Amino acid sequence: MTATTARAFPSNFLFGAATAAFQIEGAAHEDGRRDSIWDAFCRVPGAVINADNGDVACDHYHRYADDVALMKSMGLQTYRFSTSWSRVRPDGGALNPKGVDFYKRLVDELLGADILPWLTLYHWDLPQALQDKGGWADRDTADRFTEYALDMHDALGDRVNVWTTLNEPWCSSFLSYTAGLHAPGHYSVTEGVLAAHHLLLGHGQAVRELRARDASLNLGITLNLTVADPVDENDPADLDAARRIDGQFNRWFLDPIFRGQYPADVVEDIRVVDAEAIAALERAIQPGDLEAISTPLDTLGVNYYHGELVGGHAPAVPPTGGDAPTDRPGQSPFPSHEGIYWHERGLPRTPMHWEVQPEGLTRLLVRVADEYAKPAGTTLFVTENGAAYDDERVVEAGRVRVHDADRTEFVRSHLGAILDAVDAGVDVRGYFYWSLLDNFEWAWGYEKRFGIVRVDYDTQLRTVKDSGLEYSRIIAARALDR
Ligand code: NOJ
Repeated sequence: MTATTARAFPSNFLFGAATAAFQIEGAAHEDGRRDSIWDAFCRVPGAVINADNGDVACDHYHRYADDVALMKSMGLQTYRFSTSWSRVRPDGGALNPKGVDFYKRLVDELLGADILPWLTLYHWDLPQALQDKGGWADRDTADRFTEYALDMHDALGDRVNVWTTLNEPWCSSFLSYTAGLHAPGHYSVTEGVLAAHHLLLGHGQAVRELRARDASLNLGITLNLTVADPVDENDPADLDAARRIDGQFNRWFLDPIFRGQYPADVVEDIRVVDAEAIAALERAIQPGDLEAISTPLDTLGVNYYHGELVGGHAPAVPPTGGDAPTDRPGQSPFPSHEGIYWHERGLPRTPMHWEVQPEGLTRLLVRVADEYAKPAGTTLFVTENGAAYDDERVVEAGRVRVHDADRTEFVRSHLGAILDAVDAGVDVRGYFYWSLLDNFEWAWGYEKRFGIVRVDYDTQLRTVKDSGLEYSRIIAARALDR
């Protein structure tokens, strides 16, 4: 018999899973909730595949107790969820006590199950009433966000210790206000850079105010970061393409947060293609903004899904797929994208057309720790990582099963990549699989399934997939067998 060896996780490492309010809750018109920008966007013809919407989703609003029991049975130590601003402050202003009560019940249920609540304040569902006043392109939205954060702290501050301000601000700015692919579906470089600034401002103000209220809170932000490799490390055009993707995706957010400044090279790149956008940004930045934005953080959440190979020359065979799933035209979310080309490097791809590149996660964590987190005394968590696959539902001995070998391997390889980063000296404290449940995958609707738990939307039946069973075994062993 061959002896198996195991790689243990550090004793302070937390295992969890993540979701977001709009993607799972449903109950879109209940207990005083009003439209968010995503409710409105779902009604735009062609914006979301199959015209899917969040009206019912996983019906988590009514099934949260069962869902928490399921998490408990899987051995999850922590659960990352978001609160819906449109439920809590339906018009962006006055508080809706019934909406707040839902999150009190959810948090109590989690605490009762000994699961650490990890609360995200903004996962993309801005109240439509605030969008009608300009949304994130308008500075007032940052102040409204700070008020909302404090409301949530009033309600939950006695039982929630970990607070994430924003999830993936790159998506809620450039993908939403410049590329038109996410709500509110605008096509403006100026709005994209303004939205990014006001999101960061709201983040910084909220962190400052929450810290002033309670110094013991664990405060952070979650960013979607990528690893952009140049096709040829000796080709200046390829290197420049990789620099620009890294700049607009990663450094546009990391630099203001950790260094109090926007990256000068990226400002100049954008100025070349849209001088008015940079002029508008310069007018928008008020004295003190960057100080607020760079308020020290306890936690940086890293969301990692895939890497990319980019170059300055068109490939002979362009990669298939892309970010625009619908029949609504999208535009590049990268303000300065001229002369950047994506290349194929033979790695497997998921049905999202994202390449599977676990080793990129190791390099990303090492780089972010060295250049940003460690010097600032900020701790790293992988707050999202996961994959959509075309799962097959089978019935065996009268029970529903999902044999998702690809996802099982995806989870194992990415956990291995985190252990490689730990071995390289990076202090990574946890991992959240995205997602606990199959759910509403934004412009892809319900077509893409990321869950380690299957949801049958006609019955709302939950089935733990093979990947979920494997994840539970890893959590129980606190180790990855080789
Ligand atoms: C990141 C987002 O935070 C989440 O909402 C989304 O479903 C996953 N990526 C998968 O695309």
